[in-house]
Amino acid sequence: MSPVGRRRFLALLGGAAAGAALAGCGPATGSTGRQLVSALPLPAPYGVPLPVPPVARPVSPGRYLITQRVAEQEVLPGVRTPVLGYDGIFPGPTIESRSGHEVVVRHRNELPVPTVVHLHGGHTPPEHDGWPLDLLLPVGDAQGWTGHHRMTGDVVEGERDHRYPMTQRAATLWYHDHRMDFTAPAVYRGLAGFHLVRDGVEDALPLPRGDRELPLMLCDRSFTADGEFAYPGLDQGMRGLPGVEDAWSAGVLGDVVLVNGAPWPVHEADAARYRLRILNASNARRYRLVLDGGIPFVQIGSDGGLLAAPERHDVLDVAPGERFDVVVDLSAVPVGTVVRMTNALGEGRTADVMAFRVVRTARDDSAVPERLSDVEPVAVPAGAPLRTFAFLRGDTGGHSGWTINGEGFDPDSRRYGTPLGQTEVWRFVTAVHHPVHVHLDPFRVLRRGSGGPGAFDAGWKDTVDVRPGEVVDVAVRFTGYRGRYVLHCHNLEHEDMAMMVAVHTV
Ligand code: C2O
Ligand code: CU
Ligand code: CU
Repeated sequence: MSPVGRRRFLALLGGAAAGAALAGCGPATGSTGRQLVSALPLPAPYGVPLPVPPVARPVSPGRYLITQRVAEQEVLPGVRTPVLGYDGIFPGPTIESRSGHEVVVRHRNELPVPTVVHLHGGHTPPEHDGWPLDLLLPVGDAQGWTGHHRMTGDVVEGERDHRYPMTQRAATLWYHDHRMDFTAPAVYRGLAGFHLVRDGVEDALPLPRGDRELPLMLCDRSFTADGEFAYPGLDQGMRGLPGVEDAWSAGVLGDVVLVNGAPWPVHEADAARYRLRILNASNARRYRLVLDGGIPFVQIGSDGGLLAAPERHDVLDVAPGERFDVVVDLSAVPVGTVVRMTNALGEGRTADVMAFRVVRTARDDSAVPERLSDVEPVAVPAGAPLRTFAFLRGDTGGHSGWTINGEGFDPDSRRYGTPLGQTEVWRFVTAVHHPVHVHLDPFRVLRRGSGGPGAFDAGWKDTVDVRPGEVVDVAVRFTGYRGRYVLHCHNLEHEDMAMMVAVHTV
């Protein structure tokens, strides 16, 4: 990749997507949305090596500087794609932090658009959490920005420090853009990265580590004939009119599956156990992952860190925003074998995800212990308040969008107050798929309809996949910080089209 001047990106923003094949096909199985067809030839699967995002180096202990800028990256072989990148790369650099040790990340915005940084899964004070209107304006653009309609936030120009106390257990977090109305195109164009939290509990376990611990960011993208990310946004400049062309209002699905920014990559592996931290960073696509040869996914952790005990899955359903920490055992796979990880919900090319090519036998001292961590049993006190949130299509300020309890996001007037320390039952009700995400503290899934939690609901969650026609009850309890946070759908098109509500901890 190389830095590019603003000219090419601004040209892109000026309407290059008009040349893209914005024709779609029918909705892909299991996902809410419509697939965009790429306008250039796509590579064969399992030919590109799996990249692993670089680990960010602190400028001093616990302090990081990330510069958001436009760069070109070879996403498809031989094709240059402009990305909006943290440090100019997609995925951004991985931040590694320790539980209990504060981290300060200074973000500098050299992009042509405002941004907002959110640490997804972070137990973060409100002024550092990435409230959607706390804009970070581009360097030198303090005057030029006219703002988001009447709404206001804490707007700064150039740089902002995000202070993360990291008073939380080890877990796979991720950071991504969260700007009001424009989260979906910003993440689609590259603004996403991992943030891993480690702690002593996890260190003491004999889990695969080093080269055998891989973060895997799954997302789907489509490309214009020029090699740009094709996104059917109404305002290609990402400044004025929010939302996407009507045909994609349920969600934008790409026809290329990327893992860590590479199309259908292959990883040369030892015949050994691997720990995979799987993140679905797609705007709208859900995956049902399957490994060749019936190799199971042994789940050791969820959004909020280690489970109490491992859970074995033959398939793994992953909705946008969710993380699954799994161990896969390749030790019995003969050298020379390719083990594919496919997507049973995909059609055509989106049925492929990535592959492991086992290239050598190797010593392996790792194990998955029967007990992993302490996860307290879910306790809901009698008389805990019950609040219902209905996720439905609806009118949001005169146009069709996505609503919660009949209303689109209005940060200034509509909000839910919840006292710190109080356990509440939140009931999520939907017609179509909505991955529902809550900021500040993770929750526990109590039940789906009249049944118990689903197969993929174990442990501490911050995003739950609410399936069509389902009623999902979760137990929430907020701790630590008073202020404004959000609850929203993590289908990013739905989020941008107002499926979000302010939660004020009091
Ligand atoms: Cu991953 Cu509020 O977002
Ligand atoms: Cu979040
Ligand atoms: Cu949704």
